[in-house]
Amino acid sequence: MSGRARSRRDDLATQSLLPRAALERIADDALLLPGAALDAAPALLTALQPVIAAAPWRHMLTPGGAHMSVAMSNCGQLGWVSDRRGYRYDAVDPDTGTPWPPMPAVLRAVAERCAALAGFAGFKPDACLVNRYAPGTRLSLHQDRNEQDLLAPVVSVSLGLPVRFLFGGLRRADAVQRLALMHGDVVVWGGRQRLAFHGVAPLADGEHALTGRCRINLTFRKAL
Ligand code: SIN
Ligand code: FE2
Repeated sequence: MSGRARSRRDDLATQSLLPRAALERIADDALLLPGAALDAAPALLTALQPVIAAAPWRHMLTPGGAHMSVAMSNCGQLGWVSDRRGYRYDAVDPDTGTPWPPMPAVLRAVAERCAALAGFAGFKPDACLVNRYAPGTRLSLHQDRNEQDLLAPVVSVSLGLPVRFLFGGLRRADAVQRLALMHGDVVVWGGRQRLAFHGVAPLADGEHALTGRCRINLTFRKAL
């Protein structure tokens, strides 16, 4: 039996406890919740509009001085930023000089519900990074390690065009799983997988009824 078939079978026991969301185990402490944000997706995208109006999309500079191909924004108490000085969280948007827009209630609710479904009850995100991928855009393998609280999970919500999500291990050289992420899918990783390497394969071209020609990802974290 393949690893994937085995994990599907193991998940049946867990799934029977969950009336709503199906659940697929990627690794210990890393779960895919297929379609867990599907019903909320239109409300999430509507709630993002004032966020992007207040903190417009930008291509941040890497410490090496290149522009990131992913367009980014943030909402919440803290926002993830990158520039020549490095990666960090900041309460102020460097492009506008004002605090990041607050995290809309519907975003927070989806993140907290999905974290609880994945076994991380009590998750209180203070940061939401908003990524926009155009066709051809990718995100290379990396760890989310700029947060002070590494006990809290990462909750990642996919909207719009589908993509291959890369989920590796704790070492960069570890084998990488390639998971199809569809509109409304949510991935949660924490615990022993909190520092797992992950990334996104180049986005295939397409058109999505709600987002148009892009994929939008919301990454919720507890940074402080
Ligand atoms: C990220 O790791 O920051 C985003 C992952 C994704 O877009 O799915
Ligand atoms: Fe990440």
